[in-house]
Amino acid sequence: MESTPPKLEMFYEGKAKKLYATADPDLVICYFKDDATAFNAKKRGTIEDKGVVNNRMSELFFGLLTRTGLKTHFVRRLNDREMLCKRLQIIPVETVVRNIVAGSMAKRLGLEEGRELSFPVVEYYYKSDPLDDPLIYPEHAILFGWATAAELETIRSLALKVNEVLRRFLDERGIILVDFKLEFGRHHGEILLGDEICPDTCRFWDKASRKKLDKDRFRRDLGDVEEAYQEMLRRVED
Ligand code: TMP
Repeated sequence: MESTPPKLEMFYEGKAKKLYATADPDLVICYFKDDATAFNAKKRGTIEDKGVVNNRMSELFFGLLTRTGLKTHFVRRLNDREMLCKRLQIIPVETVVRNIVAGSMAKRLGLEEGRELSFPVVEYYYKSDPLDDPLIYPEHAILFGWATAAELETIRSLALKVNEVLRRFLDERGIILVDFKLEFGRHHGEILLGDEICPDTCRFWDKASRKKLDKDRFRRDLGDVEEAYQEMLRRVED
């Protein structure tokens, strides 16, 4: 069993996670909180043991992706709420992949939630709290220096690969992968998948009942929030 590297200073605190330096400049410790926010933190709350679920689920998904040859920042899980990761220079573009119309796509385009898309669509959002993460064209990221054209090509192809792998894995477990958000960063010149993959960042629907098993239960006050997170973890661990 490898030893746990000591946590040094906290250098970043986001809405759901804290990042700590380690003695190795290439490695960081990511701590998962139970704090939940929605609508750019206009709605706040806690989801009991969310941090534990998100840490464990991210470990399982990053492990699965690594086995398919995809490069991620995940090194190993340290304990219930912490994982060791490679330090990334985060690209300020959130990448969303959608298989089914839901959420902001339904709202923006006046479509009903639940319509299946005939091919997955990749969308990009500029990571900016003051601007509420606006939808952008990929060209904006190039024009304003957030990512190069080559990096965006890599990001798009990695995002579609993640979609293929996760969609098949979840389908076998009776879950529809509706959509999800990814973040990427640079590490020694390479683009790695970063952040987390969990019910905060994905929409998961039960295939049979179409019950929502993700953060929409919190966003929309649907109840059974903790139960949904635990249920998703059980399905993924099976
Ligand atoms: P959206 O439909 O609200 O644009 O969300 C698309 C996907 O991205 C959904 O699976 C939830 C995830 N997401 C985040 O991870 N963080 C965010 O801040 C938002 C708005 C969405």
